[in-house]
Amino acid sequence: MNGGDLSHVEPGSDPHSYARPDEVVVRHMGLQWTVSFEDRRLVGHATLWVERRDPSAPLWLDTRDLDIEAVQTAPRPANLEESSPALARIEGAAWTEAAWARGERDPILGQPLRIELPPQAELVRIAYRTSPQASGLQWLEPRQTADGTDPFLYSQSQAIHARSWIPCQDSPGVRVTYDATVLLPVTAQAEDRVALMSARRVESPQLGPGEHRFEMPQPIPAYLVALAVGRVEQQSLGERSGVWAEPSVLPRAAREFADVERMMEVAESLFGPYRWERYDVLVLPPAFPFGGMENPRLTFATPTILAGDRSLVSLVAHELAHSWSGNLVTNATWEDTWLNEGFTVYIERRIVEALYGRGRSEMEALLGRQDLQDEIEGLDEPGDSRLHVALRGRDPDEALSDVAYEKGALFLRELEESYGREAFDPFVRKWFDSHAFTSVSSQELEAFLDRELVKVAVPLPSRQVARPQVWIHEPGVPEGAPQPRSDAFERVDAVIDALASGKTSVRSLPTRDWTPHQWLHFLRGLPAELPARTLTELDATFALTASTNYEILAQWLELSILRGHAAVDERLEQFLTTVGRRKFLVPLYEALLAAGRRGDALRIYERSRAGYHPITQHSLDTLLRG
Ligand code: BES
Ligand code: ZN
Repeated sequence: MNGGDLSHVEPGSDPHSYARPDEVVVRHMGLQWTVSFEDRRLVGHATLWVERRDPSAPLWLDTRDLDIEAVQTAPRPANLEESSPALARIEGAAWTEAAWARGERDPILGQPLRIELPPQAELVRIAYRTSPQASGLQWLEPRQTADGTDPFLYSQSQAIHARSWIPCQDSPGVRVTYDATVLLPVTAQAEDRVALMSARRVESPQLGPGEHRFEMPQPIPAYLVALAVGRVEQQSLGERSGVWAEPSVLPRAAREFADVERMMEVAESLFGPYRWERYDVLVLPPAFPFGGMENPRLTFATPTILAGDRSLVSLVAHELAHSWSGNLVTNATWEDTWLNEGFTVYIERRIVEALYGRGRSEMEALLGRQDLQDEIEGLDEPGDSRLHVALRGRDPDEALSDVAYEKGALFLRELEESYGREAFDPFVRKWFDSHAFTSVSSQELEAFLDRELVKVAVPLPSRQVARPQVWIHEPGVPEGAPQPRSDAFERVDAVIDALASGKTSVRSLPTRDWTPHQWLHFLRGLPAELPARTLTELDATFALTASTNYEILAQWLELSILRGHAAVDERLEQFLTTVGRRKFLVPLYEALLAAGRRGDALRIYERSRAGYHPITQHSLDTLLRG
């Protein structure tokens, strides 16, 4: 029944995975691929080492759009090293063809793959190739890169895209170690290309030309396996940190991220040792659909945070913070994403406060508070403003919102303010230490909170006792939630009032010492009735359309679309055809629709769509073609 069909299959205990880890669980993956830019495919095999908890059960894996060529099983060879198995190139295993079958393709989950395991089998080898449309990979033409010389490939596996390039148990509740061999075809034009992974690079004199080897000794969920291939170079930032980027971007990136080593020290002093040996940041081409992705040891980042003044580096603090919240202690299913993202935003702000002062972290907290308010007001489903959300039958990419991030962080801030940092910081550290390299649920957090904080600490005078039930399971933001405060923003508010009432002219606005955050707050706060003429004056005085800070630029473009300031249109079109960051694109296309410019939106989208990442395409298809 090789390659045969199964009837309808339901996901297991994780609503977004067909894996049944309580029966058979994957412990280690050996990966080997040849990277073909010509065919836009990875071609190779995944060798899985499984633990058989139920000796009679088959192995269930997640897949999406994979061409499976063969499946074999073998007993574990005697010479396999338990602690650091090298499975990518294992020799001497007694392989036999396995019986396997796939279920029907679910539009969200992909296709379950069932592999029968003979009595002694512990190794499973799947020979396969990825589809050029793999949802977890983006293949870029040279012209989509900064230097324009070489093509570029990168993966983005969160939430459920690892299955589109690796047959695996694609649930954040399952952790594996891995080793990998990546083969880049060697030609004269390709000789400067390198492969990078979320793993330790293995240096060896035995490496063939174009061969790159990796090992990841810390167990991680499948969504943190990551790969990038392109012409990038590395610059050191500190003892154990560095940055990778295309040559023309590298100096700028190294200047922007100069504080990374200090960020690591702050995080360690609060929440315990950094457990991943190295921390590097890879700056991707602008098509990257997110701001950042916390691939272990190797954060992937959008180039749109290179503002030149380090004003957007909280994103790096955020991805680094995931080294504790998310990568060390992971949400067991996507229904508890807040355990990853809410904790991470909280830690991010603590890092920013320690490095750049409370004034800056409060400005960022206020911007986040405003995002949360807007998000909650715009939700179709009020239940989605709960921290723990039911997601069975829903795509986790589409359910992602500021609720997990900002409501999650606000809940933790309330606990901090109630019990004081003296009690709260050690509590958080203990949460990480006692759950290191495991996956957790809201329920476990609630039990731990009760045991380790509520029962052993008393709230500070006039502060309230922890209220996890309300925060985690009720919709909306609870009454009496913490309220961030910023004098710098209050000064901006006064300026907005003066401008709106005609007491100040654009030319005499006291903006000389404004930070980029204040500018953002200013643009967000401008009243809807402001005449288009004022936007023209603002642009003439402050050259906003020429801003090189992408947060400010995106905010300004959105405002200009909504208020009919057509002078931005050329810059807007250039932005939409080059940048793929979903957080910027969705509001800009929405603004075009709201301004009655569906024709422009569709025209620009048709021009740009092929250059967008599959995740961005999916969101915009729903918005513009749905
Ligand atoms: N892990 C997320 C990115 C993500 C979340 C990808 C869910 C896929 C599904 C990453 O850490 C993140 O939160 N990135 C943010 C930036 C952050 C500063 C809020 C982003 O990309 O905007
Ligand atoms: Zn995050």
